[in-house]
Amino acid sequence: MTERVGSALEVAAGDAQLASPYNPLSELLARIEARTARVAIIGQGYVGLPVSMRASEQGFPTIGFEIDEQRCQALQRGSSYVEDVPDPVLRRALDRNYRATSDLGDLVGFDVAVITVPTPLREGAPDLSYVVSAGEQLTRVLRAGALIILESTTYPGTTEELLRPVLERSGLRAGVDFFLGYSPERIDPGNKTWNFVNTPKVVSGVEDGSLRAVSAFYGSLVDRVVPVESPATAELVKILENTYRHVNIALVNELAMFARELGVDVWAAIDAAGSKPFGFTPFRPGPGVGGHCLPIDPSYLSWRVRQNLGQTFRFVELANDVNEHMPDYVVARVTNLLNVQRKAVNGTRVLLLGLTYKAGTSDWRESPSLVVAEHLASLGAELRLCDPHLAEGARLQLNGTIVPFSDEELAQAELVVVLVDHPEFDPARIAANAALVFDAKAILRGHQFEGELL
Ligand SMILES: NC(=O)c1ccc[n+]([C@@H]2O[C@H](COP(=O)([O-])OP(=O)(O)OC[C@H]3O[C@@H](n4cnc5c(N)ncnc54)[C@H](O)[C@@H]3O)[C@@H](O)[C@H]2O)c1
Repeated sequence: MTERVGSALEVAAGDAQLASPYNPLSELLARIEARTARVAIIGQGYVGLPVSMRASEQGFPTIGFEIDEQRCQALQRGSSYVEDVPDPVLRRALDRNYRATSDLGDLVGFDVAVITVPTPLREGAPDLSYVVSAGEQLTRVLRAGALIILESTTYPGTTEELLRPVLERSGLRAGVDFFLGYSPERIDPGNKTWNFVNTPKVVSGVEDGSLRAVSAFYGSLVDRVVPVESPATAELVKILENTYRHVNIALVNELAMFARELGVDVWAAIDAAGSKPFGFTPFRPGPGVGGHCLPIDPSYLSWRVRQNLGQTFRFVELANDVNEHMPDYVVARVTNLLNVQRKAVNGTRVLLLGLTYKAGTSDWRESPSLVVAEHLASLGAELRLCDPHLAEGARLQLNGTIVPFSDEELAQAELVVVLVDHPEFDPARIAANAALVFDAKAILRGHQFEGELL
């Protein structure tokens, strides 16, 4: 740490002790109301960057604190790596009141800090080291009257039991000297209908004043806030939502495998069941689940249940088992399809359509497509990989040639495998050009083509 930063932080710590706790809530609420509250978003990824853009748009002086130097420099240049934040939006924010930094000293004097750092799994267990580090950093610049909100997805109890003690090492007490709450992020990358602003935001605080401060802050960013009684409840809300999706996707995935054996069209059945106006939400099968949420978040909950209660969360374990098996199932079906044509996977030119974890996103973390690709490559397939959403320079370690979506590539492949239903993948063009197709997302339903749906 440089001399300059060190001294800035010492001043901040001194301020913290001197600052009067006298009615800090009304002061903070007034600054939020006037949009003069200084906002710091810790972590500028898929979640943190859109929140920063919205805070900036609403008039708050906003600092995006990002420890990854390359990301930070890209943001400073006005170059976004998050698909939901186009460059012009970032540039307007930079011109207005947004600044990206890796310098902790720039956070001195913040009023509202939102933590949006990763919460991965490490060997099957929650890795909360990023949340702890972010908390430790904030402790060094925390002052009386400020508000800290955790947004990272985690198991119930994290804000109170893990983050709070870290922050209180500052000598300040949560709910007395500073405010603390949890609000889960519900962002759905690539979703054109539901965005950060029109999706209701669940909010919580460690006591009433914190809840009021968290509600006021998000009330200035989104259309509607939904207060709940405690951070643990808000933490469970997020994991419940993702576990619900995870389990329901596993249900239709397993159903798809059995329906095929039974000779029934699972896609038609799900569509028709979806006509029921109550009591049924349609989920659709696919090659597995990916991204930063579904393969990870339910395991945070099952880990917590095992740690605290010594019990197994059976639905989560079963859903993990079914969904993790899906890429292998796709490879088995592809192998069989080629076998019927008297072909082996080995040496066959296979075009994979879609490498990201779902349609409309550039995020390829935990993508089941990568597992399918690796497996087919290990069997000797000559892979062509196509994904119009894949970020340039994405560090995929795959054996295969990245190609555009074109009639030539479709026609030259001996087999086309649809793994993601990106809108660019025109089913009519695939049907017209491809010799053989395995369609794991059923985008070719209703078209004449040689091949099979999942
Ligand atoms: N991506 C989604 O769709 C989504 C949706 C809802 C919730 N979430 C949750 O939100 C959290 C963040 O996810 P994400 O997808 O934005 O992750 P991400 O990896 O895209 O971004 C996190 C950023 O935080 C930075 N970072 C890590 N530690 C830091 C620190 N101490 N100080 C400053 N920056 C730091 C990283 O360099 C990275 O750029 C996770 O808990 C995730 O589960 C993600």
